[in-house]
Amino acid sequence: MPTITSPALRMSRSGIRALMELALADPQAIRLEVGEPAQNTPSSIMDAAFADARAGHTHYTSSVGSEELRAELATKVRRDNGLPATADDVIVTHGAMSALSMLFTAVLGPGDEVLLPDPEFPNWRMAALAAGGEVGTYPTRAEHGFVPTLEDIEASIGPSTRAILVCSPNNPTGAVYPPGLLEEIVDLARRRDLWVISDECYEVITFDAEHVSPAVYDTDDRVITVFSFSKTHSMTGWRMGYLVSTHAPLTELLVQVAEAAVACPSVLAQRAALAALRGSQEHVSTAVAGYRANRDLAVRALAEAGLRCSIPQGAFYLLVDVRDAHEDGNAVALRLLAEEHVAVAPGETFGTATAGWVRLSLAGDAEALADGVARLIRFVQGARAARHRSREQDALVR
Ligand SMILES: Cc1ncc(COP(=O)(O)O)c(C=O)c1O
Repeated sequence: MPTITSPALRMSRSGIRALMELALADPQAIRLEVGEPAQNTPSSIMDAAFADARAGHTHYTSSVGSEELRAELATKVRRDNGLPATADDVIVTHGAMSALSMLFTAVLGPGDEVLLPDPEFPNWRMAALAAGGEVGTYPTRAEHGFVPTLEDIEASIGPSTRAILVCSPNNPTGAVYPPGLLEEIVDLARRRDLWVISDECYEVITFDAEHVSPAVYDTDDRVITVFSFSKTHSMTGWRMGYLVSTHAPLTELLVQVAEAAVACPSVLAQRAALAALRGSQEHVSTAVAGYRANRDLAVRALAEAGLRCSIPQGAFYLLVDVRDAHEDGNAVALRLLAEEHVAVAPGETFGTATAGWVRLSLAGDAEALADGVARLIRFVQGARAARHRSREQDALVR
């Protein structure tokens, strides 16, 4: 057989998916491992998309999406994000993940590196490696609320760095970066001649902080912004995302990459996206209020039990330090599923900064979350007590 030589071989499997597959085999499992909104797509969006399909919207569009949708998205990013974009700067993609993969293909040559925040969303690394690029990281620390410092980012830039990826609101930490830092990151990228890739999938999900797009500080078209319908409109399964690039040569290359990668995004999903943009936005604020309530209930319960956790300012994830139970978050995630039927994502899958932590999704049903958090607390307290007992016994034996 031919040897497989693809750069994609360097990918390792996401620990979130591994836990998800185990959880799927456990019908009793409380599913907190994956970022999936509990509510379905609003029926007004579905009805409009299906009616459009029946009316004949069943054909290819341009490889980067229909003119109608691109124009509507340009209006949205000008109005809501302050980006000076026209329809020509917008590329509609098969979810944000496809936008990110296409971007890595377009900006990373062999040996070129993208810098990711640590902890990281594992799919960024997988996509960059599959595109033939290299991956570096810049630290974000729990004691600073997982907001990086400019010094740490600058110190992480190496001779082959070509792009800095920024994600605010952040998965997995829930950090929302302050506008001043975002401006400094764009200035740094300009000084060091780097791209900035801004993943803004969680743009509308903020609690106590304002979301600002780094592209508002862009003076020379080096910031590329990625957005998604998945979380904003509870449309994860429709696969709809888009990117905005105002650097014409890069946009032209991306148009070709889109043609090679997807031919065109699903037209049914494009019609659903139009309906989501044009209709009432009430479902968005209702969902965000639910995520905030979920965050508050989980943070309160963990604090009362004396467990350390992140206080997310945005997105819908919560990191919990479980090192009292075990140094290894993987071991905790596996035992928690086996013993308490609660599925969480092990911190190790996000990088070194969250080893010994686990990530909980706050996007699901409040009752299930409360139950899952109570079981997590019971598990950690039980494991902590068992560790103390075994230490005491060791001391007696000695
Ligand atoms: C940070 C981040 N970027 C991108 C994605 C992918 O989003 P999409 O469903 O639009 O592909 C996710 C999904 O969880 C995410 O958390």
